[in-house]
Amino acid sequence: MDIRENLVLLGFMGTGKSAVGRRVAALAGAPFFEMDAELERRAGKSIARIFAEDGEPAFRDLESRLAEEWGQKEGAVISCGGGAVLREENLRALGANGRLVCLTARPEVILARTSRSKKRPLLAGEDPETKIRDLLAARAPHYAKIPLQVDTSDATLEDLAARLLGLWKQPA
Ligand code: S3P
Repeated sequence: MDIRENLVLLGFMGTGKSAVGRRVAALAGAPFFEMDAELERRAGKSIARIFAEDGEPAFRDLESRLAEEWGQKEGAVISCGGGAVLREENLRALGANGRLVCLTARPEVILARTSRSKKRPLLAGEDPETKIRDLLAARAPHYAKIPLQVDTSDATLEDLAARLLGLWKQPA
């Protein structure tokens, strides 16, 4: 399959960006790139440590630099961190040669998926459910800017990958 545009997956933590992205990339025979993993590789430390030691604004700057860089890829699947939507410049950079798709999920599904891991500093500590609901509400206007939205709450990985492949191939 020859698609020059990138497929860019955005959306809240726990909506399945990495799992679905990896699967759709495999189906398409396309390379898969994950922003969080690359930021950790470049910083030489975990996202949690970047937040704790350098602060969230420093993390957002690194994220924006990577968005600018990866926006110039071709034919790749790019999975973004949940906060990549917060800066308009990121959406512009990633959308320059990319089909932006926002994955969504119900808060209780996000809670179940994210509670299995301790790597998300914004949900760490007491009462992650309230944190999820508050952050979702605060970010809703940002996620709503992306016209293509796919709810991953009830679908299987295979169905989602097929659906995203269809959205990616569909002419603009
Ligand atoms: C964040 C989401 C995380 C990671 C960081 C901040 C956010 O990525 O970038 O913890 O602000 O929503 P995932 O969405 O891949 O968990």
